[in-house]
Amino acid sequence: MSFPKDFLWGGAVPANQCEGGYLEDGKKLSVPDMLLGGDLHTPRTFLPVIDDTAFYPSHEAIDFYHHYKEDIALFAKMGFNVFRLSINWGRIFPNGDDEQPNEAGLAFYDAVLDACAKYGITPLVTLCHYEIPWNIVTKYGGFSNRKTIDLFVKYARTVFERYKDKVKYWLTFNEINIPCRGLHGGQGALYGLGIMEEEDIHSTHPLPLPELQYDQQRMFEALHNQFVASALTVKLGHEINPDFMIGNMIAHGTLYPLAPNPEDVMACLKKDEMDNGFCGDIQVRGEYPSYAFRYFKEHGIDFSFITEEDKVILKEGTVDLYTFSYYQTNCVSTNPHAQKTAGNMNYGIKNPYLEASDWGWQIDPQGLRYTLNKLHDRYPHTPLMVVENGLGAFDTVEEDGSIHDQYRIDYFRPHIQAMSEAIEDGVPLIGYTTWGPIDLVSAGTGQYAKRYGFIYVDRHDDGTGDFSRSKKDSFYWYKKVIESNGEDLD
Ligand code: BG6
Repeated sequence: MSFPKDFLWGGAVPANQCEGGYLEDGKKLSVPDMLLGGDLHTPRTFLPVIDDTAFYPSHEAIDFYHHYKEDIALFAKMGFNVFRLSINWGRIFPNGDDEQPNEAGLAFYDAVLDACAKYGITPLVTLCHYEIPWNIVTKYGGFSNRKTIDLFVKYARTVFERYKDKVKYWLTFNEINIPCRGLHGGQGALYGLGIMEEEDIHSTHPLPLPELQYDQQRMFEALHNQFVASALTVKLGHEINPDFMIGNMIAHGTLYPLAPNPEDVMACLKKDEMDNGFCGDIQVRGEYPSYAFRYFKEHGIDFSFITEEDKVILKEGTVDLYTFSYYQTNCVSTNPHAQKTAGNMNYGIKNPYLEASDWGWQIDPQGLRYTLNKLHDRYPHTPLMVVENGLGAFDTVEEDGSIHDQYRIDYFRPHIQAMSEAIEDGVPLIGYTTWGPIDLVSAGTGQYAKRYGFIYVDRHDDGTGDFSRSKKDSFYWYKKVIESNGEDLD
């Protein structure tokens, strides 16, 4: 096995899917707080006004807000030397545009970061993991308004200055490319950019997320503003602490042509460019790639929003680190009858060679080695990190309380082998944070039943459960993997 001795091993969670305490200590509503749960067959729903009789999964989530000490101690027991978390923007600036930050929110993350430091765990902090304050959506139109760039940069400055000696690794926006995937566009635009059409904001009935209206021109403008916000943040972070390593974060939905037919191969290349390449190219290379302009022209996008001044900002704010989530791969086909797969905001055409999870996500460990090689080839001077990878599955608690999740171990083992092979191939991979080392709320479906953790949380989709934590078989397995620096995968 070839993992370097300082390889970062750990897990990743976002504030909105684990903290709960949605109105605690001054926090106000943010986007995920407005969403009800769904399941594989029923999409999540948006309601413009909080319904006190309904169950909102993010409102309590897994109550990490009150369990963080216990949870971080459990991560330390597994041997984590890195923990990816996000700061909930709305804990620091509850309305997004407040004059002064909320001290209670800042103090909460001081305590979380101190708990990490106690065990020698390096924090990797995402500044925005779908947690845009709701007021920014309704008052400013999310990132479609340039004013939101200033609000975000002010928030980033506040946390950079506060935690500059506690945090070295930062990510700007989680899965920044989700809105431009063209699939469930309205949902991605709301999660990622905080944009929603006026009519939808004031909907008089519960609105299923796939029905959210979606305007491509507005989406690309908002995404551009987010690139500018990210670049300004990277630049600012380096001024505050030159040792900061600041990365981007891409939802990498690796694609294969379904058939060797050149039509499919070309369709695959073109989709891959806009789905997976576009945002990373801008954030790593500091400029819009040429293929994007053809896409804009062919789709009637007026790209005059890319000003000369912004071009300079993008060039000056390139990232130090490329990070990505990797769950599944999909195919691309020009055959309109090709069978589709399931996914959250990321899906495509079924690959006949792959098995899928209970939620229909295709499992492809070899694809991770392929992806890492392709990324290194594309960005040869940028270190890479896999910051999300995992299996959402139903777990069963035995009478004696044990949870035998061999299927999860079977998922991780070949993915870790694939990373090792990629390192042998020469890929500068510096770390790996599995998704949901502790069970949490699913972003796609809002379910608890879709469990990712090595640690089980007693909390269920009907709102029952006492939030107690217990170790699954995979807990002991991952501990062994980390202890042996990826050598013992049995
Ligand atoms: C990624 C997101 O898309 O996938 C996470 O960054 C999300 O927030 C994860 O939880 C897994 O998806 P899901 O829909 O199973 O929660």
